[in-house]
Amino acid sequence: MSTELIVLRILHIGGGVVWAGWVFSLAFFISPALEGMGAAGGSFMQNVGSRTKLTQVMRIVPPLVILSGFRLLWVVSGGFDSVWLSSAHGITLTAGSLLGILAFVYGMIVMMPKSSRIAAIGKAVAANGGVPTPEQGAELAKIKAGMKQGGIVIAWIVGLTVILMSIARNVY
Ligand code: HEM
Repeated sequence: MSTELIVLRILHIGGGVVWAGWVFSLAFFISPALEGMGAAGGSFMQNVGSRTKLTQVMRIVPPLVILSGFRLLWVVSGGFDSVWLSSAHGITLTAGSLLGILAFVYGMIVMMPKSSRIAAIGKAVAANGGVPTPEQGAELAKIKAGMKQGGIVIAWIVGLTVILMSIARNVY
């Protein structure tokens, strides 16, 4: 195996583990645990955002997985060879790749605006003595419910991506 492939696979699979790990943890462990925690849950998530490098990591890792994935796809498909692309291996990997890209786009379009809005409301609430107005409370509850659902949707898309990527080599 060439050095380039080794480096690409380490970046791609390592990044995929970090990305998928966070997506699954958030959807299936952290979000349900936040239910009923009220303001304490909000503070916890704010601390995760401000005291850890999660935001920066999640800004870098998914694009890295996609870019390394494109290069891997180019290499293993022999430059997107049409015969390879229509083989079972090619179809499985391409479908997995499209799902991975869909998860990324969904995160950018659906989830990012929601988490930015939560952060903005959080700042406004903090500046106002830490107690949300009824309107802010209602908007926060609505956005959080949307994020919880969206988190589960992304987890399913990423889960399917992982399955397709993992079985592609053994599909003929
Ligand atoms: C959540 C996103 C993703 C995860 C978790 C993920 C995970 C993986 C894993 C674990 C493998 C190793 C499979 C094996 O060697 O049997 C793999 C391979 C591969 N992935 Fe992904 N992947 C993701 C997204 C993508 C995307 C978006 C693309 C393309 C744009 C892509 C292209 C590829 C290719 C071409 C391979 C085969 C590499 C080879 O055979 O050497 N992946 N992926």
